[in-house]
Amino acid sequence: MLVNFPPMGVYETLFKFAAATSKYMGDGKTHPWAQGYPLTSQLPDGPVLPESISLDSLDLKYPKATGEIELRQAIADYYNTHYQAGITPEHVGVFAGGRPGLLANLAFLEDDVCIALEETEYTPYWDMMRLLKKKVHIIPSNIENNFRPNDQDYDINPVEGAKRVLLLKSNPCNPTGVALSAERLKNLVKSYSQQGRGAIFDEAYEFYNDPEPMSALKYIDNIDSTDIFIVGAATKGLQVPGMRVGWVIAAERHIELFRNYSSIGMGGISRPSQLYVTKLLEKERVTHARKAVCNFYKSQRDKYEDGLKSLGFKLFTGHGGFYHWGLLPNGLTADEFNERLFKHDAGILPGYLCDMQRESDATSPLDSFIRFSFGPLEASSFDNDMQILSECI
Ligand SMILES: Cc1ncc(COP(=O)(O)O)c(C=O)c1O
Repeated sequence: MLVNFPPMGVYETLFKFAAATSKYMGDGKTHPWAQGYPLTSQLPDGPVLPESISLDSLDLKYPKATGEIELRQAIADYYNTHYQAGITPEHVGVFAGGRPGLLANLAFLEDDVCIALEETEYTPYWDMMRLLKKKVHIIPSNIENNFRPNDQDYDINPVEGAKRVLLLKSNPCNPTGVALSAERLKNLVKSYSQQGRGAIFDEAYEFYNDPEPMSALKYIDNIDSTDIFIVGAATKGLQVPGMRVGWVIAAERHIELFRNYSSIGMGGISRPSQLYVTKLLEKERVTHARKAVCNFYKSQRDKYEDGLKSLGFKLFTGHGGFYHWGLLPNGLTADEFNERLFKHDAGILPGYLCDMQRESDATSPLDSFIRFSFGPLEASSFDNDMQILSECI
């Protein structure tokens, strides 16, 4: 009765880990290097995370279809303060995390739109392309170009009989951590604001960028005249993956359709979660959080870069995100490496799960690549992490 499909690659790895260790990665003393979540506790020099919110009976009513006005206003204020975005709550649609926003966005594209997607990208994009049967143009992002596409690579004509192109891009990129320079982001926004073009900038790692957070909204003059969508979430930057709150910023006409979708298929997002995230976006707090996230994760990125290089990994990581992206030493494959790591209750994400051209059960040029996540790690775990990694190399 149901179409058969596998779990998304990160979860596939978690399920393999659970089968091998009888533990859930991230619980107890496991080493969750495959996992894409940040510390959910106060960072060094960072703001505290509230321990409670109060609710009354009115908070238990159905939430608004597009999101509660308090949260939509807080999100609009946030982008207006930090990126002079010139948006209102009417440009904000709230979803239960980043992925539901991305999936809805892609699902409601018209039939004549194809997707331009980098070859090495965020794992569930692969599933979304297949489930939604999208026509795809692949932008080279591989060892030959250092996982850094050039300007021409982003200049794309429609493929497979499509008439329009939508660029789908995580920036900074998961898994590579490569972020567009301000100049290139500005040019891409301009180029994809033209007739016949649109773009989804997936900014889940907005705060995790050295030297400072970045958003395409800084370069969009009038979002209503574009088909550009900015996807954000409280998941990484605000450190609350468990709240399941994400959003899409787009032209009012598009947000209205997301509202209609919510009325049919979602019924809004948990109001308590929205109230909690609204608190996190309070002006001074969020300014403080941006700085603390940026600083702490830069120091972690630098530390693990030195550590992994000293073990013989060849790294290709950019200046963003909370992953290292690299090639294993000694010709090891990522699956072989995981078998060894699982014995230490540790695991990484095999690189092939980020290969947007992969075929199930076939080899991939990324078989010996890994995505090592330092997102969930306390600064104090470094020495023990290095010990395990070196034993498994
Ligand atoms: C590139 C990217 N986009 C979006 C998300 C959204 O995550 P969530 O659906 O957990 O909010 C993630 C999380 O891993 C991500 O890495």
